[in-house]
Amino acid sequence: MENRAPRGTRDVLPIDSGKWQYIEGKIHKVCRQFGYFEIRTPVFEHTELFKRGIGDDTDIVQKEMYTFDDKGGRSITLRPEGTAGAVRAYLEHNLHANTSPSRLYYICSCYRYEKPQAGRLREFHQFGAEMFGAGGATADVEAISMAVELLVSAGLSKLNVGINSVGCGECKSAYNNSLKEYFKGKEVCELCQNRLERNPMRVLDCKNPHCAEIAENAPKMIDILCGECAEHFKSVQDGLAALGIDFVIDSHIVRGLDYYTRTVFEITAGDIGAQNVVCGGGRYDRLVEQFGGKPTPAVGFAMGLERLLLCLEKCDIEVPGSDSPDVYIGWIGEEGRRCALKLAADLRGQAISVDLEVMERSPRAQMKYADKIGAGHSAIIGGDEVESGEFVLRDMRTGEERKYRINDVSTKGVEI
Ligand code: HAM
Repeated sequence: MENRAPRGTRDVLPIDSGKWQYIEGKIHKVCRQFGYFEIRTPVFEHTELFKRGIGDDTDIVQKEMYTFDDKGGRSITLRPEGTAGAVRAYLEHNLHANTSPSRLYYICSCYRYEKPQAGRLREFHQFGAEMFGAGGATADVEAISMAVELLVSAGLSKLNVGINSVGCGECKSAYNNSLKEYFKGKEVCELCQNRLERNPMRVLDCKNPHCAEIAENAPKMIDILCGECAEHFKSVQDGLAALGIDFVIDSHIVRGLDYYTRTVFEITAGDIGAQNVVCGGGRYDRLVEQFGGKPTPAVGFAMGLERLLLCLEKCDIEVPGSDSPDVYIGWIGEEGRRCALKLAADLRGQAISVDLEVMERSPRAQMKYADKIGAGHSAIIGGDEVESGEFVLRDMRTGEERKYRINDVSTKGVEI
């Protein structure tokens, strides 16, 4: 039997789960500040949803989806991203009938069959935020500023925010034609030859150094945007400037998913190697309609939580880990055991975390254990404590000891 986790997946062990909880806490807080509400959607959806949403010609749909037939013969796919499911749920539950805009966020696991490396996994986690119903540039600025706010509140300071516009349908087809013209006769890789036929903008994203060199002088989308798209893009820049968010216009940001219109953006932070985009997003004004809804503009982003934690680690930013218990309680003898059980319950009732002896160790081994787990305080309940009705709480760091009445703990608690 294979007894290792599948390639590209990772266990989050107790020593690290505190870091995840810390980041998740920040996410919930920032989302509340920006008026977003959490949505939880299934880990799998009908395959068609992702094919239609993300686009048949994208790497994700072509090569990376975990797709299988269920026992009922339906084609099912583990979600490779959160946007398509959020749009499906938005429509299915008529969330558009509520006030506009609808602001939704999610923290979810995603699945992509990619070659694993630092910051690139087959099972990874995204925090994503989607806003439906607002077509103006202010919504784009809000989305970008919320992503920045989260990264800053997590502790990152050197962020690179890159923005671009991929225009509307009309801009896109004009741009695709000019790209085809530009790349005609140039020696791009085989994959890009294919991309030029089906989706020329993808060539700008190619990681092959030779293609990247040729793409360097390719025409830029922002130079041929239609009047309205150009105005929208300018307004996004004005808004970011008003907030003091530094950004660069990067014409190579085209994103790996087909649903984008107008603004697209990516944020990198620190040097985590090739997979350094921690957050990506943009506007997708046609997706709701494509899924059968009324025309509804939308904008959002997602960030990889493994990448975010990696950035924090590479930038030497301390993230609080898992907490040790406030108090360890050991006991001696049957009377001591009963009393210790009750004392632990009373302390927990006072919101104090307690590790109660369950291994029936010797008193010496109990103290050693309390030390090893890093308990803040410790107490041992034996015959003397039961008889006197008092116990000593020892501060494991300073050695200071305080006496308490056992019966008072449920109402008065203890000082820790
Ligand atoms: P994405 O750029 O495909 O966009 O993914 C967003 C983020 O997820 C990436 O920037 C990266 O941090 C993380 N990520 C992606 N693939 C992996 C992987 N294999 N391993 C680890 N982390 C990864 C989307 O998914 C869009 N749905 C974002 C969006 C939301 N656009 C509008 N709304």
